[in-house]
Amino acid sequence: MLKVIDHPLIRHKLTVMRDKDTGTKDFRDNLDEIGGLMVYEVTRDLPLKDLEIETPICPYVAKTLATPIVVAPILRAGLGMVSGILSLIPTAKVAHIGLYRDEETLEPHTYFEKYPKHMDESTVIIVDPMLATGGSSAAAIDMVKRQGATNIKLVCLVGAPEGVELIEKLHPDVDIYLAALDERLNENGYIVPGLGDAGDRIFGTK
Ligand code: URA
Repeated sequence: MLKVIDHPLIRHKLTVMRDKDTGTKDFRDNLDEIGGLMVYEVTRDLPLKDLEIETPICPYVAKTLATPIVVAPILRAGLGMVSGILSLIPTAKVAHIGLYRDEETLEPHTYFEKYPKHMDESTVIIVDPMLATGGSSAAAIDMVKRQGATNIKLVCLVGAPEGVELIEKLHPDVDIYLAALDERLNENGYIVPGLGDAGDRIFGTK
């Protein structure tokens, strides 16, 4: 399932991010804020379980989240969305998935992975701002599945149709959330119109 989360605040903040004249601080701040805004929709269908509590008035069977939540950023650009998501889900654990894209073949390579316990019981939210070819996201989904995860969501900021198609083909069980679905990839693998290299813009590198 693909869900493009269309909201005026998200559109406004994404426009700031797309502008080539936006500097590192504003780019980072807006990414964080969009991450937080997207959480509301991404977590809409999280399973709940009963919890017996006592209110100051009476015993009450309330609802609480049924699964642990793991946020799994794909390094390094995914890190830019973590704190916005954690501001709404402060009890989430954070996995780290280190992948880099070979500049020529555009194929993903793993250089680091670290997970919390109980991945098999958790809702795992993989985050990466740019869903371009989909290669890195598909590889990250394979990695968390090898850890036993079965409830997986992919949260990106901007997607290209090529990336969405690949994930839908390889991982039809994974829900994809985007703030925008852009037109296409260019010959260098960048999303058009996109926002450039998300990692460089978050961290101020070149
Ligand atoms: N990665 C980026 O950072 N930007 C793109 O446009 C595509 C992949």
